[in-house]
Amino acid sequence: MKNGILIVFEGIDGSGKSSCMDAAVSEISKKRDVIRTSEPTKGVIGQLIRTHTDVTPETEALLFTADRAEHTKEMKKWLDNGKIVMCDRYYASTLAYQSAYGVRSSWLRKMNEPVIIEPDITFLFDISPEMGLERVESRGEKSKFERLDYLKKVRRNYLKIAKEKGFVIIDASENKDHVLASVMEHISKII
Ligand code: TYD
Repeated sequence: MKNGILIVFEGIDGSGKSSCMDAAVSEISKKRDVIRTSEPTKGVIGQLIRTHTDVTPETEALLFTADRAEHTKEMKKWLDNGKIVMCDRYYASTLAYQSAYGVRSSWLRKMNEPVIIEPDITFLFDISPEMGLERVESRGEKSKFERLDYLKKVRRNYLKIAKEKGFVIIDASENKDHVLASVMEHISKII
């Protein structure tokens, strides 16, 4: 039976969610057992996603979801053992990113439903794609997921899902200490 806590970080590329998550993990691990994990995973399907990029959006959606099914199975074990699991991206990434590529959202939802568990809390790091891209470019990274128009759609999708699912929306344009403080305030209420 689940007695751990699942905390998810979502947001467009360059939103700062991953570095904030790292900071939160080191903060919490001073007192509790924390497992840091992410999607796409480092498992076989996750690796396939990173190496085989020339596939249809539907294939991509299937791969992200298959990767998630295996990941959820693993996360359930950690949660059953009472761990705090912090996950960088989860099902909302597929709903926001793949539907921005034109994949039918009802299909994505239906397909994900049996392979997910509802997180105890999900943070959406909200930022304008312009600002996010600026940050990503200064890191020297750029992927096909990072084009401006595309990210605008992804952001809109994310905000819709956040409203529907009650995610905590974080203004990721604020300075990083401020962002971390508000994330920690929310987490401290549930751990
Ligand atoms: P990743 O390299 O982990 O992103 P980052 O570290 O920049 O947060 O993920 C690669 C890309 O995969 C990222 O741009 C978002 C995309 N993605 C999807 O399109 N759908 C999904 O379901 C997931 C988990 C990620």
